Amino acid sequence: MQLHRRDKKLLSMSKQRLQGKMAIVTGGVSGIGAETVRLVSANGAFVVAADSQDELGHQLVTLIGSDKVSYRHCDLRGEKQVQETVSFALEKYWRLDIMFSNAGIMPIGSHSGILDLDLNGFDNTMAVNVRGIAATIKHVAVKSCIPSDRLDDMRLSTTMLEGKVALITGAASGIGEETVRLFAENGAFVVAADIEYELGHQVAASIGSDRVSYHHCDVRDEKQVEETINYTLEKYGSLDILFSNAGILGSLSGILDLDLNQFDNTLATNVRGVAATVKHAARAMVAKSIRGSIICTASVAACVGGTGPSGYTTSKHALLGLVRSACSELGAYGIRVNCVSPFGVATPLACGPFNLEPHQVEENSSDKANLKGVVLKAKHIAEAALFLASDESLYISGHNLVVDGGFTVVNHSFSAL
Ligand SMILES: NC(=O)c1ccc[n+]([C@@H]2O[C@H](COP(=O)([O-])OP(=O)(O)OC[C@H]3O[C@@H](n4cnc5c(N)ncnc54)[C@H](O)[C@@H]3O)[C@@H](O)[C@H]2O)c1
Repeated sequence: MQLHRRDKKLLSMSKQRLQGKMAIVTGGVSGIGAETVRLVSANGAFVVAADSQDELGHQLVTLIGSDKVSYRHCDLRGEKQVQETVSFALEKYWRLDIMFSNAGIMPIGSHSGILDLDLNGFDNTMAVNVRGIAATIKHVAVKSCIPSDRLDDMRLSTTMLEGKVALITGAASGIGEETVRLFAENGAFVVAADIEYELGHQVAASIGSDRVSYHHCDVRDEKQVEETINYTLEKYGSLDILFSNAGILGSLSGILDLDLNQFDNTLATNVRGVAATVKHAARAMVAKSIRGSIICTASVAACVGGTGPSGYTTSKHALLGLVRSACSELGAYGIRVNCVSPFGVATPLACGPFNLEPHQVEENSSDKANLKGVVLKAKHIAEAALFLASDESLYISGHNLVVDGGFTVVNHSFSAL
């Protein structure tokens, strides 16, 4: 009964998330596509459901309402039909914010492997699943442009963690602090753990002691970690979310000058410290049968070399292994384990060691970034953590959510264009 009420509340609160936006969903009349059309439209967007199954398309429009959804015949194998669908959407709604290019086929009866490959059937599958998607991206990208002053409209709804209890480490500054604020805004009770006593208290006081409390915790000391988890349980009676975010850049030296004591300290904070928090948070969740969410902060330095000092890069790669290993073990208890991997954000960690002002770090990041027109802020990382903490990511586990605007998957030093 309680759950039912909460679900209804969440549903009504999330209705504004796509208010006034316009979406095209291909493969939009059946399965995942039709479900997405329903959800996107229930969240306030106008939708064009594009598909080649006309009867199902008209049924869907009748079901949801022609004021919210239009059906458009579109066989993705014909580029002209794709182009016309995009033009239709723009003419009807005067905007285009979202393309869910979802149409795809699995040919019936063609279970052949490479040895018996029917290349005609193969061509047809590629024409829909690859060429068709390329056509949708092309025509949507050509026609649509989202002005950056509208990006603020895209903020997530504000109550995604209603009543949940979260522990955030490294919470006195930067990404951790921003996440404390966002989680609290979203209805969570937060224990903000850090070694910075004064800063931590300031963060808690600026939000309100009814929502956030500071607790001293050096993650390198397992006893302190265990004690912080106990404090959280005693104060709020639960632990639904761990954001294990505390980290240091450590020594800036490369491998040739490696000071192994400093290397040990970086690993003690960024890997051993995170392992301690995951261990004790997961123990508490298992003991209380909580299907919790654990999120760790890794980095683009977990994905590619050359983006951080030697010890830091080593620690963040190791962290990825820790996340995957914990994910494999904790899935049996319904506990999800993921990480976020930020690109350069202007926090004390990124400014201090290099003697840079925040605007210089941001200029650096923007200069090297693949995605232009957005300056990466701690808030963007907090929003990714919020998504992973919330029920919106209910089936996502073992994932590394890289918040880098495509930096780690694009190499601009070699451009074929
Ligand atoms: N800023 C970036 O560009 C960037 C990029 C990728 C990843 N990250 C990661 O983001 C996380 C947060 O860093 P940030 O950028 O917000 O830096 P930050 O320096 O602003 O915040 C880090 C916080 O961790 C705390 N901390 C350090 N050692 C601790 C310990 N032993 N126990 C408990 N708390 C401790 C610090 O006191 C500080 O409040 C780190 O894990 C960092 O590696 C940052």
